[in-house]
Amino acid sequence: MTNHFDRRQFLTAAAAGIALTGVPGRAAPAGDKPAALGGKPVRTSGGSKPWPIVSEADEKAVGEVVRAGRWYRSQSVERFEEEYAGLNGAKYCVAVSSGTSALFASLGGLGIGPGDEVIVAPYTFVATVNVALLHYAMPVFADTDRETFLVDPRKIEAAMTDRTAAIIPVHIGGAPCDMDAILAVAKKRNIPVIEDACQAHLARWRDRNVGNWGTTGCFSFQVSKNLSSGEGGAILTNDQGIAARCYAFHNNCRKPKVAAYDFTYEGGRATNLRMTELQGALLLSQMKGLEERAKTRSDNADYLTRLLREIPGIMPAKAYEGATRNAYHLYMFRYDPAQFANMPRAKFLAALGKEGIHGSGGYGPLNKAAFIKNALNSRPYLRVYGEKAVQEWEERNRCPENDKLCEEAVWFTQGMFLGPRSDMDQIAEAVRKIHAYAPQLAAL
Ligand SMILES: Cc1ncc(COP(=O)(O)O)c(C=O)c1O
Repeated sequence: MTNHFDRRQFLTAAAAGIALTGVPGRAAPAGDKPAALGGKPVRTSGGSKPWPIVSEADEKAVGEVVRAGRWYRSQSVERFEEEYAGLNGAKYCVAVSSGTSALFASLGGLGIGPGDEVIVAPYTFVATVNVALLHYAMPVFADTDRETFLVDPRKIEAAMTDRTAAIIPVHIGGAPCDMDAILAVAKKRNIPVIEDACQAHLARWRDRNVGNWGTTGCFSFQVSKNLSSGEGGAILTNDQGIAARCYAFHNNCRKPKVAAYDFTYEGGRATNLRMTELQGALLLSQMKGLEERAKTRSDNADYLTRLLREIPGIMPAKAYEGATRNAYHLYMFRYDPAQFANMPRAKFLAALGKEGIHGSGGYGPLNKAAFIKNALNSRPYLRVYGEKAVQEWEERNRCPENDKLCEEAVWFTQGMFLGPRSDMDQIAEAVRKIHAYAPQLAAL
């Protein structure tokens, strides 16, 4: 990756509203020189809400659990499960320790294992792939639709074999995947779909929230997420049997609500991925502002899209026709250096940073990551899949569209969309200034 921040650093810096410049002053009037050329930065403070947003109600909720000594998975987690299922219109929710755990337990509950292939989106956080490897399944990447940043359903179909056992589309940045097309492809062969909705709380496809379309839907409550308890996760499903198997997988084969000394078991392979009561209490409290914040982000982001679309070389991610709400965990666009005097993306991001607007270049090409090849070349994989299949894996997993996207992408994080509309005007103004002075900036 060529970006100067890694993702977690970027999210932290952006959430804290840290400016690269630190120069005091007012917002620059339009037409000013870019800060990188000695002009006034567009923004010298603000522009991003501190994240997470902490209220007295949060402190009270967690304090009560602490004082009661009720620190284990108990009534707050159960109440959260009910409320989160209700919020998303799903029948069942299993709260777990992280988004990774939600994906891991979904695959576990569906019995995915050695010899199976799991189709994954390449434009994602590494956990989407790790969970397939943890079950000794073979990850198979389906290329990205560059215009939307989301997995291309036609590439899913092309990647399917008689070993395909699950499909994991990812609603990256909170943008809904084309669920009609993905579910249609999956239905042809009766393959389960595990939605990775870890970044997509309250995003909506048609009349229903994402995470409630597939066989299961997985969410993360890690601290950067739009709903957070520091760490945490949840699985949604409408299938009672799958809910029970995911529950058993995450709780060492134990059933819900059994007495402490009930040592009867159900399910198959399992582990401990339980959410604590402290996380459950915090989530119940944090859920109160969720809808209002989602609306603010989406209003601001839609407005910013209208402004950025007017600037040559800036291509905001397009939405599929059925996407009725984007959660905007990330605001994503493509940057074309040819329209900016061939200024590389890293210089563009640095110039933006000098304006007090912090962007990131986002993910690298995950399908090329060495750790996957290391895993596939390990003894258990070679034994199960054979040397030929492991050798052919690289050729089979080329994602040329995703490669291009990884070079073009720019992200802003959700905290930048919680303020007033004038914050969006500042972002657009900074990009416009950089575009107007691109030849000088490119020559720096
Ligand atoms: C797309 C995606 N999938 C999975 C995860 C894993 O979630 P967690 O960090 O809660 O394990 C994340 C979190 O960063 C994510 O963004």
